[in-house]
Amino acid sequence: MPGIHKRHQDLFKEFNQKLPELESVNGDFLKYSWSNASVVFANSTCFSKDLMEQILLKAELLRKGAIVITFTKKLPGTSRSPNWEVHEGFRRYMSWGLATVYIHKKVNYGFCLRQFRDKKEKEKKIMI
Ligand SMILES: C[S@@+](CC[C@H](N)C(=O)[O-])C[C@H]1O[C@@H](n2cnc3c(N)ncnc32)[C@H](O)[C@@H]1O
Repeated sequence: MPGIHKRHQDLFKEFNQKLPELESVNGDFLKYSWSNASVVFANSTCFSKDLMEQILLKAELLRKGAIVITFTKKLPGTSRSPNWEVHEGFRRYMSWGLATVYIHKKVNYGFCLRQFRDKKEKEKKIMI
């Protein structure tokens, strides 16, 4: 998304003195560590199931109290996980129309990640 990246850079320059230190990265968010984030937002309406699972694996590394906001799709398995409190989808108007918003709060550490690793292991064994 080079267009959005350029817009961010222009905005940061314009509001340089008034904003905390911010950085815009034009790259694959799966290749970066964001385990120290307090709030993560994914405009995830068009994301695949696999991509949502990969986001969950990274989100499992967030500390307690961190918030993950997604659109249209929940982080998979979080409603049943002891690691997450999920504010089930509520609808809000965005610039393009109505979106369903999910707010996930990290309340524990570890279980869901193990569950997904087990699932991936099972899938590997089935493919062999
Ligand atoms: C619905 S669009 C949102 C665009 C913009 N971020 C916004 O909020 O208006 C979702 C975007 O996520 C991007 N995306 C999907 N997987 C990505 C990844 N692994 N790393 C970085 N961007 C990704 C897609 O290219 C797409 O532009």
